[in-house]
Amino acid sequence: MYALIKSLSHRGLETFSVDVEADFSKGMPSFDIVGLGDAAIRESKDRIRSAFRNCGYTFPVARIVINLAPASMPKTGSMFDLPIFMALMAASEQIPMISEKSLFIGELSMSGRLNPVRGVLSKVIFAREHGFDSIFIPYKNAVQASAIGGINVYPAVTVSEIIDHLSDGPKIKPLAKCEFDDIAEETFSLDFCDVKGQESAKRAIEISAAGGHNLMMIGPPGSGKSMLAKRIPSILPQLTFEESLEVTGIYSICDSFSPDIKMRKIRPFRSPHHNASPASLIGGGANPNPGEISLSHHGVLFLDEIAEFPSHILESLRQPIEDKCVSLSRVSYRVTFPCNFQLIAAMNPCKCGFFGDSTHKCTCSESSVERYLSKISGPILDRFDLHVEVSAVKFSDLSGNSVSEDSESIRERVLAARNIQTERFAGTGISCNSDMPPNMIKEFCEMDDGAMKVLEKSFKAYSFSARTYDKVRKVARTIADLDNSEIILQNHLTEAIQYRLLERKYWKK
Ligand SMILES: Nc1ncnc2c1ncn2[C@@H]1O[C@H](COP(=O)(O)OP(=O)(O)OP(=O)(O)O)[C@@H](O)[C@H]1O
Ligand SMILES: [Mg+2]
Ligand SMILES: [Zn+2]
Repeated sequence: MYALIKSLSHRGLETFSVDVEADFSKGMPSFDIVGLGDAAIRESKDRIRSAFRNCGYTFPVARIVINLAPASMPKTGSMFDLPIFMALMAASEQIPMISEKSLFIGELSMSGRLNPVRGVLSKVIFAREHGFDSIFIPYKNAVQASAIGGINVYPAVTVSEIIDHLSDGPKIKPLAKCEFDDIAEETFSLDFCDVKGQESAKRAIEISAAGGHNLMMIGPPGSGKSMLAKRIPSILPQLTFEESLEVTGIYSICDSFSPDIKMRKIRPFRSPHHNASPASLIGGGANPNPGEISLSHHGVLFLDEIAEFPSHILESLRQPIEDKCVSLSRVSYRVTFPCNFQLIAAMNPCKCGFFGDSTHKCTCSESSVERYLSKISGPILDRFDLHVEVSAVKFSDLSGNSVSEDSESIRERVLAARNIQTERFAGTGISCNSDMPPNMIKEFCEMDDGAMKVLEKSFKAYSFSARTYDKVRKVARTIADLDNSEIILQNHLTEAIQYRLLERKYWKK
């Protein structure tokens, strides 16, 4: 007696199909699972036996072998409980043979309830793209799966519901597709109106959000750097459907996954501690898990107190920042996770925090300041398009009654600038100014004569590098977009250059 059930598994973000075969033969009753399964799969035998008993089905008495094919691919997790259960039911003829166009994924509890599994979103997409016509999943995974149309998705609370559906019992209603636009946008609790003063820092943040530029904030303790950074997601545009598929897909395969996560609309904001391990930042594990840099995909990675991060960790971020993806190699395979994030960093200029501050005296020696600043290497510093000083808040700003601008108003300007960029880069695969390659900088960063002269003068005066030359033009492009100007004017360029001068104050004296 033999039965075949189709199922799916994943390695990194990649989904692959798995055939679950059950074969019964005569001999001493036994139950073996072969096909490179991990401990969770070996343990599924006990869950399945109990589920059979507790749901009132007969566990077959035979020499049972379950094979998970392809046998060469290691398989992890508990999501094969359901397909193995179905294969045993079909091979023992307790249900009719099941179509090879149907897929089953789910973990079983001993009572026969279905527990949620990881990576359902990408599995439903895979199923639709590979011509399957139905997929049976645990009910708790339904929220994510409902975003994908074009395939019958059957959510079930217990395995008995599926057995009834496939026999002559009550039918499960397929999930209705939930349109992305109908998903309510989450509201953001932090707002820029809480931050008093700091107008120049807020302006730099607005530019950085508008053009997707990496931003570094330097200033004394308590000036509001962390406060400002945490409010950045409140002015960013919501994720597009395609971006949300990528982001939700990454979150759905994580260790820390929650089955309740819907399609995400707000951009991720991740703020790893400087003690974080390389694996938690970059990604790692036996069946590799995405790290913080991938969890920030299409959102913000905030490195608070960046000078406190060990230098080997900062250096390991260089490649992913450049490539916008990270590859993790294992003995026989490699997985790649995307990590196209906007990098925001904050730091004090020295150990005591007050170097260059007008209100407090810095107590550090010159060499100690130098040592502190040198923790940020040239190449890392180069990854930032904008450097901005966040000086101590003025008493008049804190005590005054003036109301600061709220996030909604800033966001409107950011969205207008982003719309200009969406139109500009339509069909190129690029979404914002910060991603422009050199040929596009040439094409899109047209300057008027005044701007050209300022650029030439400052290039000589500050001996800018070629990389800085490109960065200044990209930032100037964003400033011009915020000003709704097709051509980069002198004042746009002057402002862009200003965001390169801090580097000279602290690092290249
Ligand atoms: N501009 C501001 N307006 C209102 N409150 C502020 C402002 N700046 C700082 N604060 C208050 O000070 C607290 C500390 O600010 P925050 O943690 O952002 O400082 P920081 O610059 O990150 O300091 P550190 O360098 O020590 O990390 C905030 O939680 C807030 O209560
Ligand atoms: Mg801080
Ligand atoms: Zn100091």
